[in-house]
Amino acid sequence: MSISHLSITQVRNLTQVTLTPSPNINVFFGLNGSGKTSVLEAVHLLGLAKSFKPARTRSMIQWEQEESVVFCKVGEAQLPVGISRRKDGKHHVKISGEPAKSTAELAELLPVQLINSDAFLLLEGSAKNRRQFLDWGVFHVEHTFFQEWQRLQKSLKNRNILLRSGKITDPLRDTWDQEFVAAATEVDRLRQRYLSGFVKEFERVLALLIDLPDLKMHYTRGWDKTKSIEDVLKNNIQRDIKSGFTNAGPQRADMKLKLHGELASDVLSRGQQKLVVCALKLAQGYYLSKQAGKKSIYLIDDLPSELDKRHINLMCQLLEEMDAQAFITCIEQQQLSTSWQRHQPKMFHVEHGRIESVSENGVQL
Ligand SMILES: Nc1ncnc2c1ncn2[C@@H]1O[C@H](COP(=O)(O)OP(=O)(O)O)[C@@H](O)[C@H]1O
Ligand SMILES: [Mg+2]
Repeated sequence: MSISHLSITQVRNLTQVTLTPSPNINVFFGLNGSGKTSVLEAVHLLGLAKSFKPARTRSMIQWEQEESVVFCKVGEAQLPVGISRRKDGKHHVKISGEPAKSTAELAELLPVQLINSDAFLLLEGSAKNRRQFLDWGVFHVEHTFFQEWQRLQKSLKNRNILLRSGKITDPLRDTWDQEFVAAATEVDRLRQRYLSGFVKEFERVLALLIDLPDLKMHYTRGWDKTKSIEDVLKNNIQRDIKSGFTNAGPQRADMKLKLHGELASDVLSRGQQKLVVCALKLAQGYYLSKQAGKKSIYLIDDLPSELDKRHINLMCQLLEEMDAQAFITCIEQQQLSTSWQRHQPKMFHVEHGRIESVSENGVQL
């Protein structure tokens, strides 16, 4: 799916802009503070109903305004999709004129992948960042995953409430334990099935971007790999009661990248880390397109930062080859004007919250 029409209202300094993006590559260039990142935030809001970080979502709304509105048309059918986000935290999503039941419907329609400076958290941040990344892929490829994931969250929440309430002999705990065991087993199974294919794709893309053959992914499922989750829950019960939460399970899974036993974030340069993160995100796009026939939408903020010219060109060529839609920002138009082999990208000049489509030599179209 790609976005063929985009209208942004009251997102940061973008008061009202309307664009006709290319289904392939779109480059937004302009000075600091002109509004480039805000365009990406607006598309992110459409796909995930929030900004890059939930805490930023409120600050996206233009000063002295009550709401941000982003509207687009998606895919060949030109499906209208719109979201309004208010200061009180409420949002309304409409797909084809009908209110959406959940934000998962948005995510299903618009598989948005973000690469910005926070993407380094995939390597150096907490396990939560890596689980979110992994689950995004499993969600799009495995149809039963969302349902199992919801079941896991619900049973975990209720089990933890009982652990904290001291009602440890409550028969309800058995019920929630059974639910948790069933969901945990299934979530882990689907994650592992996804990873068995995804890791190959990641190694392929990584080798195209950077020579790091010893970089390996280590998945840990969140509980002892030699024991069943039932046994682990039984063995851990005193510890769980004391801490007031469930210590083991898929909610503690992780997917670390290591080189000779050391974390990638401890040994690689910043530029190398960026290439590893890009390989992870690009591999997800390739894998999604192979497994589910879905086209990702890439939001890449300041693509050239940390990268040399050769690696900028490689990134651009992979994006072109994948045939994904991309919204990419940079400061100077020249930074990304000669990196393409197939089609010239659509270039947009961003200035003081206004956006103009320009030709390669800078002439307004
Ligand atoms: N809520 C807001 N309302 C209006 N303007 C804002 C708001 N939040 C940030 N800004 C301004 O919007 C501008 C655009 O920021 P940004 O998109 O991050 O710029 P760029 O990525 O081009 O450097 C900045 O000048 C910033 O001061
Ligand atoms: Mg920016």
